[in-house]
Amino acid sequence: MRVLILGATGSIGTAITRELVRNGHTAIGLARSFASEEKIRALGAEPLAGDLRHPREWSAALAKMDAVIHAAATFEADMAETDRKVVMEILSHAAGRTSPLRFLYTGGCWLYGVTGAKTADETSTKRPLQSFKWMLEQGASVLQAPGVSAAVVHPALVYHEEGGAFARYLAAAKAGEPIEVWGSLRTRWPLVHRDDLARAYLTLLERPELIGEFNVCGQTGVPVSEIIAEVARRSDHTSGYVVRTLKYVLCKYGAWAEGPTMDQQISAEKIQSLSDWQPKHTCFRSSAF
Ligand SMILES: NC(=O)c1ccc[n+]([C@@H]2O[C@H](COP(=O)([O-])OP(=O)(O)OC[C@H]3O[C@@H](n4cnc5c(N)ncnc54)[C@H](OP(=O)(O)O)[C@@H]3O)[C@@H](O)[C@H]2O)c1
Repeated sequence: MRVLILGATGSIGTAITRELVRNGHTAIGLARSFASEEKIRALGAEPLAGDLRHPREWSAALAKMDAVIHAAATFEADMAETDRKVVMEILSHAAGRTSPLRFLYTGGCWLYGVTGAKTADETSTKRPLQSFKWMLEQGASVLQAPGVSAAVVHPALVYHEEGGAFARYLAAAKAGEPIEVWGSLRTRWPLVHRDDLARAYLTLLERPELIGEFNVCGQTGVPVSEIIAEVARRSDHTSGYVVRTLKYVLCKYGAWAEGPTMDQQISAEKIQSLSDWQPKHTCFRSSAF
């Protein structure tokens, strides 16, 4: 398939691009800079020059695509507005197609809010942070749109050989500083290795009859205490940790910082029961990061 990947150079998109190329698909990555173009070529994909913020400038390329995987975000103040523009442009193109566009949109586990003792599946009520509510609405509009066969992927927190979700802890350990824990040591994080996540995207790409929402995780919920203990062990870190309150992190880092404080458990049973996807990384301790 010819697949346009938005975010091909990102934490998640890099692995998706690699996985698609490995499986014989033609991957085309949107690139807003020369550096991104180079990264995309190095992954074995083709760059398409363009900026997420100006979708009209590159949307003509959609006519030649069988599928779009959207795993990009500006993570700036215009994140929601940019996403709306991008999705609207893709959906307006799809409405005029003769064959449906396969569209994989990326949501996230934080859309479920705090789950506590319950394990969230795709039917669970979503309680997104105010700052991510738009993402839930975007996912819903993608699923209802004509001209697309759509799936919304909700990844758990993503880790990989360069750290990913553990990056902040690893950086503190490297600097010999106390590891900052936001919220509580008992907070659970659902986790997924990005290679497993990339295989889930590939599965969904190749199975256009699988529509709707799909959680993807390799571990339902791992206490933060276990993650920082492993980071400390691997780094010979002896400076301990400091627990920061929600109020502190909101003031210092902004509204998004509530995400890592949420105690969550997520199930990926749906994708496992409907396809042959299974996580290979079922314990973060056994993986490189
Ligand atoms: N990482 C996680 O743990 C996680 C978990 C659940 C959901 N998600 C969601 O997954 C999505 C991707 O997350 P990520 O962690 O992979 O993000 P990331 O590593 O920061 O990557 C963001 C990607 O978006 C691209 N991008 C940003 N602004 C752009 C622009 N103006 N024009 C073109 N491309 C632009 C970046 O390209 P450049 O190379 O040009 O910077 C990069 O490829 C987000 O929606 C996030 O909320 C992430």
